[in-house]
Amino acid sequence: MRVFLVFLFCWMPVFAKADTVGDPESGARLFGLHCAACHGPGARGDGPLSDGMTPAPPDLTLLAKQNHGALPLTGIATRIDSRNSQNSQHGGMPVYGWFFDGPVVTISSGTAGDFETTQPIADLLAWLGTVQD
Ligand code: HEC
Repeated sequence: MRVFLVFLFCWMPVFAKADTVGDPESGARLFGLHCAACHGPGARGDGPLSDGMTPAPPDLTLLAKQNHGALPLTGIATRIDSRNSQNSQHGGMPVYGWFFDGPVVTISSGTAGDFETTQPIADLLAWLGTVQD
């Protein structure tokens, strides 16, 4: 019995991780490389390129607060991907859908239901979740 319990505990972190689709450490790295220039290293909208930018890069640490306390996962994923939107226009958020292509993962977004995105975008969402105000 004791051996069984030890075995079970050893595996628990593995099972716990299976629930979390995105990897915040990878997300932090991706954000630092591809988003921080505009949104700032801490996602507060104060990156070195943000000066005088119109529209200004928003403070992404407020996204949950602005959405009744829950990070609007589907909306953010769509915004990062952007292949179906207008933000390819000059001055807005770049289109990252092709760039962040990768294995497709399913994210559960509470009442908004499940949606599919790619692993790099899931990682970014996981990191953004850790920096909410
Ligand atoms: C060239 C500057 C620039 C880069 C690089 C950039 N963004 Fe943005 N982002 C913006 C601007 C400007 C806006 C506001 C205007 C718009 O939505 O197009 C914005 C808006 C957003 C929004 C919508 C926020 C809201 O209030 O709904 C999200 C989410 C976002 N960016 C995430 C990211 C992520 C994640 C990355 C990196 C993969 C990134 N951005 C890279 C400039 C940038």
